[in-house]
Amino acid sequence: MTGPVRHLLSIADLDRDSIEQILDLTESFAEVGERNIPKVPALRGKTIAWLFYEDSTRTRLSFETAAKRLSADTMNFSVSTSSVKKGESLRDTVSTIEAMGVDGVVVRHSAAGAPNRIAEWVDAAVVNAGDGWNQHPTQSLLDLYTARSHLGDLDGRHMLIVGDIKHSRVARSNVSAFTEMGADVTLVAPRTLLPADIDHWPVEVTHDLDSVIESADICYLLRMQLERQELAYVPTLREFHTEWGLDPRRADLLPEHALIMHPGPMNRGVEIDGSVADRPNALMTQQVANGVAVRMAVLYLLLGSGLDLVDERLAAA
Ligand code: CP
Repeated sequence: MTGPVRHLLSIADLDRDSIEQILDLTESFAEVGERNIPKVPALRGKTIAWLFYEDSTRTRLSFETAAKRLSADTMNFSVSTSSVKKGESLRDTVSTIEAMGVDGVVVRHSAAGAPNRIAEWVDAAVVNAGDGWNQHPTQSLLDLYTARSHLGDLDGRHMLIVGDIKHSRVARSNVSAFTEMGADVTLVAPRTLLPADIDHWPVEVTHDLDSVIESADICYLLRMQLERQELAYVPTLREFHTEWGLDPRRADLLPEHALIMHPGPMNRGVEIDGSVADRPNALMTQQVANGVAVRMAVLYLLLGSGLDLVDERLAAA
């Protein structure tokens, strides 16, 4: 975020320097999370609204935790109990929330581009918490932070992203994020689960997980997005697991230092064997924990006073 970036809509809006600044700031906020009272006054007086049109456990709870640790006020909005159920449009819903006075809106929506539209309508900072198949920028930041904390510099590291690439906003965000940080990304999927424009992505592609598993520094598994699939893209989930799942045999082929990552929620027994998900090098719990500090950094940068003051403020807190 060099200059006056007002929103976080896509990871592709951030260059390498900006990403590194956010990850460095995340380290400071991770330290806040370890204190007896994990709270700083950095966003006191600011109000943030959650606008989640799609289900979420990790993203929503970690944004809420991040906001509380920064002393922000929050405005809870639940689509299922709101006037959206009576047919109120996205624009009118957003205008209603803004009229009550908000400084930030964190939005998840099934339509790609919905956060961009909201950013055109409001003065508040908008954070994309996942839009359709398109982007999930804070997931990518927490994945980068987690990988960096284990591997150090990601330059030249080999990342496999395995599974349902076609329907995955995490895949799209993470290809941008990890290649920007110098990693080499290989996508591993059946032909039916690759996007039509794959030739334009800065990645290698293979359909054979066994051919690349021994060269991986990061094996990043994706959930089979059954809710986004109108057709059957694989004959059966059992066959998918046999061909593309990370089972114990394949996990044993990974280099000793390699990381196993997954954005969650996991389908144990589909993209990952249950016992593999519980191995020490499977970092899903760390990813979730790091998500709070990353989201503190993002909210602070967008709503607070910026990088210059952060060390001073944290020291004074
Ligand atoms: N990774 C992720 O976005 O999880 P949730 O859908 O639970 O927020």
